[in-house]
Amino acid sequence: MKWMNNLATQLLWSGEISNRAEKQVVADKLAAMVKDGQTIGAGSGSTSFLALQAIAARVQEEGLNCRVIPTSKEIEMSASILGLQVTSLMSDKPDWYFDGADEVDGGKNLIKGRGGAMYREKLVMSCAAQTYILVDQSKFVKKLGEKFDVPVEVQQEALHYAETQLGLLGANTVNLRLAEKKDGPVITESGNFILDCNFSEIGSDLEAKIKDLTGVIESGLFWGYNPEILSN
Ligand code: A5P
Repeated sequence: MKWMNNLATQLLWSGEISNRAEKQVVADKLAAMVKDGQTIGAGSGSTSFLALQAIAARVQEEGLNCRVIPTSKEIEMSASILGLQVTSLMSDKPDWYFDGADEVDGGKNLIKGRGGAMYREKLVMSCAAQTYILVDQSKFVKKLGEKFDVPVEVQQEALHYAETQLGLLGANTVNLRLAEKKDGPVITESGNFILDCNFSEIGSDLEAKIKDLTGVIESGLFWGYNPEILSN
């Protein structure tokens, strides 16, 4: 038996999707790549949300048998509403992974995590043999950090230690990400805080240095993952 109430049947997205038409073009390109029988890691954010809908349309029209491993509650809920089979890393390995990004440089390095889901995004990406990053033209930068800070997820009690150490690693500013429609900080799906860190220089060793700090769960810096970039 299925739930038929509004929240179980209507897709929700928080706010306007920027560059929606451009993102839709890339989402459709990605959906065309799905093959019967595949397990697909699904990233988070609005581009992934559009891609998931395009995949669901193909699954329904062509009767494909596909499973999805979501990287956030938002994508898990959407997948369920769209009638996709949802699974997890506990029982399945993704054949491939797709996701959006906030910034992409010439070496295909990324900043991600505007939506706060970078920990599970990096985990599922790491489990997949191939990753496709879906971006509209606004995401390409000469140098990482041009438009976005590097988000760092930290265990709550590590807040002050992490701020201090991130400063020593060269962060100009370290801001605790604050929630909208709730007072106080954003609490991630793993129960942690997010620190948005502005760096003037982001080198190939920064991701590892951040990850090495006690209390850091993950950062939104994705250096050297060599994804395939799909754009409009
Ligand atoms: C989610 O945590 C993020 O990593 C997103 O993938 C990234 O912010 C891109 O978002 P949009 O697709 O909404 O631009």
